Amino acid sequence: MTGRVIAVTGGGSGIGAAVVRLLLDRGDAVIDLDLAHPREETLAEGAPGAERVHRARCDVSDVESLAAALDAGIARFEGRFDGLVHCAGIYLKSPTEDVDLGTWNRVLDINLGGSFAAASLAGNRLIAAGRPGSIVLVSSTAAFLGDRAEPSAGYAASKGGVVSLGRQLAVEWGHRGIRTNVVVPGVIDTPMTTVIEHPEAFAHVLASIPLGRLGSADEVAQVCVFLGSPEAGFVNGAVVPVDGGQLVS
Ligand SMILES: NC(=O)c1ccc[n+]([C@@H]2O[C@H](COP(=O)([O-])OP(=O)(O)OC[C@H]3O[C@@H](n4cnc5c(N)ncnc54)[C@H](O)[C@@H]3O)[C@@H](O)[C@H]2O)c1
Repeated sequence: MTGRVIAVTGGGSGIGAAVVRLLLDRGDAVIDLDLAHPREETLAEGAPGAERVHRARCDVSDVESLAAALDAGIARFEGRFDGLVHCAGIYLKSPTEDVDLGTWNRVLDINLGGSFAAASLAGNRLIAAGRPGSIVLVSSTAAFLGDRAEPSAGYAASKGGVVSLGRQLAVEWGHRGIRTNVVVPGVIDTPMTTVIEHPEAFAHVLASIPLGRLGSADEVAQVCVFLGSPEAGFVNGAVVPVDGGQLVS
């Protein structure tokens, strides 16, 4: 195996699944972690890239479950580990007056707590091994834009926190050769956006995107994979929109 070993959370769907595919295409090995995966699975021999995928179930808001799944993957690849692309997350659209503290906490626990858990576990393992590496976190344009028609205060706050977390880690761990960058997707065509089912809501969303269409999971994954790769070796602390121009319109 000549490539790197990269952990991907949320690898079971959408952007995370596209990241897994691209990493395998590059020749990297992937520790593919998702709440929707079976408990632990070694892909069938003969499946494309099977020997380079360790797939396991874990909940990113449960640090013990995440640590166990990550460490099992690192052990499978004989202690090698080079970085993280953290995609796991949930969306919740609801007027703020209908959101109770339990719901708010759940969104924050998964989206922001999960980002901290994944990034700190990955960073600690790189530091302990004395290795350089890279961390890519996934925020959202919701971190920067309010939206009266698509209210999602908890989601927006969690994704704002992800930006701050990524920038802090870039400064704290840069001197160790650990780069941290944040990708900011706009509206991307994945199972997450099927919540925008109403034609009027969909038209409203399209009107906010200068390119006039949704992005694809692959278009976001390409940027995640680039930022995590050696080709982006001097990129650290960047916050990169992949949004068809939504943030500048
Ligand atoms: N789709 C968009 O328009 C969009 C826009 C901006 C940001 N994002 C962000 O991109 C990331 C990926 O979203 P997507 O569109 O691919 O969504 P998706 O729903 O297709 O995939 C999310 C994946 O995360 C997993 N997941 C959810 N909670 C988990 C948990 N607690 N532990 C482990 N895995 C968990 C799900 O099982 C799923 O496989 C998310 O962080 C999302 O907030 C998406």
